[in-house]
Amino acid sequence: MRRPDLLREAAAGSGCAPWRLVRRLAVPSLLLLLPSVAGAQDLERGKAVYDKYCSQCHGETGDGKGIAASRLRPEPRDFTAGKYKVRMTPTGQLPTDQDIRNAIRKGLGFPYTAMPPFDRGLIDDAELDDLVAYLKSFSSAFADPDAQRQPIDIPAPPPYTPAGAEAGREVYERTGCAACHGNVGRGDGFSAPTLRDDWGQPIRVADLTKPWTFRGGGRREDIFRTMSTGFAGTPMPGFHGALPPEDIWAITDYMLSLSGGPQEGDTVEAPYANVVRAVVVDQPIDLAAADELFAAAPPALFPLLGQIVEPGRDFYPSVVEVAVQAIYNQDEIAFRVSWHDMRAETTGHNAPDLPVPSWEEQLAETGGAAADEESGGDEDDFWGVGTEESGEEESADDFWGVEESGGAGDDFWGTGDEGGATTPDKEFSDAVAIQFPQAMPQGVVKPYFIFGDAQNPVDLWFADLGKVARDPAAAEITEADLWTGRGSAAMTPNDAGDVPEVVARYQEGEWSVVFKRKRRSRGGLSFNPSTFVPIAFSVWDGFNRERGNKRALSAWFDLYLEPFERPNPLPAMAKAFGGVLGLEILLIAFVRWRRRRTAPASADAARPATAYESS
Ligand code: HEC
Ligand code: HEC
Repeated sequence: MRRPDLLREAAAGSGCAPWRLVRRLAVPSLLLLLPSVAGAQDLERGKAVYDKYCSQCHGETGDGKGIAASRLRPEPRDFTAGKYKVRMTPTGQLPTDQDIRNAIRKGLGFPYTAMPPFDRGLIDDAELDDLVAYLKSFSSAFADPDAQRQPIDIPAPPPYTPAGAEAGREVYERTGCAACHGNVGRGDGFSAPTLRDDWGQPIRVADLTKPWTFRGGGRREDIFRTMSTGFAGTPMPGFHGALPPEDIWAITDYMLSLSGGPQEGDTVEAPYANVVRAVVVDQPIDLAAADELFAAAPPALFPLLGQIVEPGRDFYPSVVEVAVQAIYNQDEIAFRVSWHDMRAETTGHNAPDLPVPSWEEQLAETGGAAADEESGGDEDDFWGVGTEESGEEESADDFWGVEESGGAGDDFWGTGDEGGATTPDKEFSDAVAIQFPQAMPQGVVKPYFIFGDAQNPVDLWFADLGKVARDPAAAEITEADLWTGRGSAAMTPNDAGDVPEVVARYQEGEWSVVFKRKRRSRGGLSFNPSTFVPIAFSVWDGFNRERGNKRALSAWFDLYLEPFERPNPLPAMAKAFGGVLGLEILLIAFVRWRRRRTAPASADAARPATAYESS
């Protein structure tokens, strides 16, 4: 019951002096019933919490333009618009207070966006209510007491089944999700490169194969809600009322099936690894037929982060993870590195030593002020569409290329493999690098993970995807670029080392790049069985103008090379083993017999140390 109704009823219950009665009866009960409406929140207190924890990103006036804002992608929410992504309310309605509380408590897809979760240790429940009231006060939309904020019902989910998920694929295709999200959900739909949010910012379509990156949560229930109510202020539509609930569950389950299906907690956690295992193959490694060989190698998924330590910072690079496989034999070793990319950028070039202009750099450090002065631009500069050092002008639409070219259709990107043929020219191509220490580190000290250091150089196997062969079947195989890094400002081409061969493929929104090199090397690292080798990765998205130090990179992980001798040739080994065992038994029996004769009281036989204990 709303406040005016209560008042009217209380007043109607008495013949005279209604207002005194109201005060006596209604006000205390109102306070009990509706503490939030009766002004329990304190905007002053809300402002204090906001200024402390939120304003550096969301801006003092709630317009989303805090000092940190322009380096963030997506930008912090502009609260003056009253548009909230994660809501229980249907498209067009404001969020409930609980929706806003949830966003603050859970964050919005952190660390894949900058919006972190705030727990009770930072903001207690009373402060949270004050804060929500203060956020709402930024937008006039909330001033209307009649504005509807009616949460939808989320019906009980049917049990997850692979068959249900398969049925969801059909609904996904029929509903047109692929136009934005791509045929298999990797975020590479043909309209993906053109999309902007209501504030005119380029917006990246979600990669539906990675529910752990979702802003609105990756549980089945969360996804059902996201698909039902949509994300206000973005191109992501709501399907509440347009699709029956069983269809929405079916698509939800199709989506989760893309990453293996829900597990504990009704979701899929990021299956990140620390080690990639190189498995032994008996055949020579033929790059044109590498797919078959890699089928036996378990992929390891490694998270990437923006390079934000050295000049050329990139706070939110496009690529958030790489999947890596490794195979080897006596002579050669090969790696396959794969990641999802909205579009293959194969024009232009790339290299690990390309400079990032100072205005982009200052932008990262000052949140835009310095760059604005220098280039007279705004946040468009961050995306590289404003004035460059060369002074050349390029309009925003030119940069995105697609809007002006008039309806990029299927012929444009749809073929995937040929992505480079007709896309508008880009200055920077996509690129990838595998990084190894140049020499195996002694002890635990590894080279600095950002392109090494003066004492501990690294080797970079670098593939400029504007250059490398894209058709392994045609047996056209190119060489990777070999670089040596003694720090990110000291990159030099390495002309002495063994150069890896490389082939690449782009298909359905996924880059897949295979490197192969001799196992043993004169100049660089040799890969020996049963050893752990430090390994790290960098990916550059040319679309996002990543080059040089502006890139996504990983920390050091480990490559483990499985031993050549597998326990497969059992008979031969058993024979040898049996022989040794027989001798040992004889020996032990002999020792025991001697002991019993010489020192009958001494108890413990010496405990043999195993190989496992010593390692
Ligand atoms: C480090 C920067 C940063 C800080 C600090 C920060 N936010 Fe955010 N916030 C963001 C970004 C970026 C987004 C947009 C995420 C997106 O759109 O995917 C966001 C989005 C939001 C949203 C939108 C939720 C929705 O469903 O659309 C709310 C509400 C919000 N922030 C509240 C807060 C509050 C309250 C605080 C302080 C307690 C805060 N934020 C602190 C960066 C920040
Ligand atoms: C017009 C383009 C468009 C269409 C059509 C579209 N989406 Fe989206 N979708 C987006 C964009 C853009 C985002 C990213 C929004 C953001 O990050 O703020 C998104 C985000 C999502 C998310 C992630 C939400 C999260 O929590 O981060 C899911 C799940 C999703 N879409 C599913 C679907 C499904 C399923 C369909 C079809 C029924 C669909 N979308 C149709 C553009 C679209």
